[in-house]
This record gives sequence, C-alpha cells and structure tokens, in this order.
Amino acid sequence: MTTSSWIATWAGLLPAGASVLDLAAGKGRHTRFFAARGHHVTAIDRDVSELAAADNIEVIAADLENGSPWPLGDRRFGAVVVTNYLHRPLFPALFEALQPGGILLYETFMVGNERFGKPSRPEFLLKDGELLELVRGHFSVTAYEARMISEPKIAMVQRIAARKTS
Ligand SMILES: C[S@@+](CC[C@H](N)C(=O)[O-])C[C@H]1O[C@@H](n2cnc3c(N)ncnc32)[C@H](O)[C@@H]1O
Repeated sequence: MTTSSWIATWAGLLPAGASVLDLAAGKGRHTRFFAARGHHVTAIDRDVSELAAADNIEVIAADLENGSPWPLGDRRFGAVVVTNYLHRPLFPALFEALQPGGILLYETFMVGNERFGKPSRPEFLLKDGELLELVRGHFSVTAYEARMISEPKIAMVQRIAARKTS
C-alpha cells in the first residue's frame, strides 16, 4: 500500500530529526516513509509480522486494546501518526505521547463510510467533526478535511494535521 497522500502532504511539518510514533502501523507503509526521511520511528501493532526493525526503526508488538496498559510509559515523540485505525480510549495517551510542539497526523474513516463498505461499525468511524473537537484548545490546526476520497478506494475519511500547544 502506498503512502497516504495526507501523510505525504503534511510530513513537512515535522522538524528534521523529530521522533515519530506510528500507532497501529500495520505493514509499516508510514514507518518506512518517515524512516526514509531520516526520522527515528517507533512502530506499534499487535501484529508485527510485516514490520522490520532497523537502525532507525523500533518495532513494538503490543495490544493497544482489551484493557492492556499503554505500552510506551511516559515516552514522548516529536510526531504521532495514525492512519486507518480508531480506538477512542487511546486518545488521551496518544496526545500525551506528543512533546509540546509535536505534530499530530491522523487520518481515518468517518460516518458515511458505511455506504461504501468497511469499516461500517460506529466504533470504527469518526463522528462529524470529531477530530477537530478532540484537539480544540490543545492544538493549533494546520489542516483538516472531512470528505470522500476515491484513492486507494472510495471512502469517507476525516484527517487532521495539528501542532500540540499545551
Ligand atoms: C487498517 S490497518 C492500518 C495499518 C496502517 N496504519 C496503515 O494505514 O497502513 C489497522 C491496524 O490496526 C492494528 N490493530 C487492530 N487492533 C489492534 C490492537 N488491539 N492492538 C494493536 N494493533 C491493533 C491491526 O493489526 C492493523 O495493522
């Protein structure tokens, strides 16, 4: 799978050398993307079978749900990247995992996506305006979209690029 156009567009917000947390990294398309740009990337997923550790890639196998403890303790990152994954109870921890001034790049499916296929269950779909609401008061928003996309498949997505201010 190719790099998300949203991630590619806003990756330039990250300062050179900023550490990156790729949450629910999957096969690591964004892990490899940021590593190739010179960032140290920590990739977490419950299935790390397709994630390869390297000099600047740390791979952590962890269940992020089911009552499991947050696997990163009080570690802080220069950027947190999440794509095509939503588990609402993680929001406080992943915001906390950002250093002051850190960059949040988040893109996932939103209500309306059920018309096109999966995910279709409400717990996997952002509500209208949800990402904006979540960051209000604590982030400066550089870009936000809630729209239908046609690549890599037709879907309704919400996506944000924001800098942590407090
Ligand atoms: C749709 S994939 C997205 C992967 C990647 N972020 C991307 O956009 O290419 C969702 C990922 O969430 C991971 N995931 C789902 N439930 C999880 C859990 N409880 N703990 C950790 N990872 C989980 C899956 O293993 C999968 O890799």
